[in-house]
Amino acid sequence: MLFSVAFVGLMASTVVSTPLKYNIPAGMKVSADCTMPSEYTVSDFSAYTDRSNQTTVSFAYVDSATGINTHCERNPSSKPHNTNPSLASRYACDDANVEFIYQTAGVVGLTVIEAACPGSGSSAFEASSLVPFNQTCGSTPMGRNCTSNPSDITDDFTSLQPRPAGAFAQG
Ligand SMILES: *[C@@H]1O[C@H](CO)[C@@H](O)[C@H](O)[C@H]1NC(C)=O
Ligand SMILES: *[C@@H]1O[C@H](CO)[C@@H](O)[C@H](O)[C@H]1NC(C)=O
Ligand SMILES: *[C@@H]1O[C@H](CO)[C@@H](O)[C@H](O)[C@H]1NC(C)=O
Repeated sequence: MLFSVAFVGLMASTVVSTPLKYNIPAGMKVSADCTMPSEYTVSDFSAYTDRSNQTTVSFAYVDSATGINTHCERNPSSKPHNTNPSLASRYACDDANVEFIYQTAGVVGLTVIEAACPGSGSSAFEASSLVPFNQTCGSTPMGRNCTSNPSDITDDFTSLQPRPAGAFAQG
């Protein structure tokens, strides 16, 4: 197990500048040409709640190692990406290999989820992270707008798990 983690880290080292902060599960076969998600950047986060309590969340998501640079938004007409309604609602970014959960109850915050090795057949794994930031909010008569502090957040994925059943509408 230790050997295989080190081996994957070496294989990925040509494109991944930071070592992985999680273990590759024993059941996951990682092909040599697959770059595992390791580090992401969330920027331009805002959560705007209008006078009828409808919230629009948006941010930019970049994983330069896997080549993802996408816009993520959940607005009042967005539908959850997951087909299993008992899971926390996930919303897809424009690049649907990235999903997010914005929770306002319990631990308030943004969770980002990136599919690991999408399209490689045995790719039912995902990296996820609770994005560390505090919110700074301001109110106007039109509503309440919260932004992240800091405004650019770069952090490591510390978890790689099998995708839960019904988590992801394929395609
Ligand atoms: C919006 O949500 C707050 C807090 O949950 C509640 O107090 C308020 O009545 C809601 N307003 C509307 C217009 O639904
Ligand atoms: C959030 O704010 C608290 C209190 O000021 C601080 O200790 C913590 O480091 C902040 N977290 C982040 C991710 O900036
Ligand atoms: C909320 O704040 C962000 C950052 O300042 C800004 O880009 C966005 O336009 C604001 N949203 C609204 C609806 O005012």
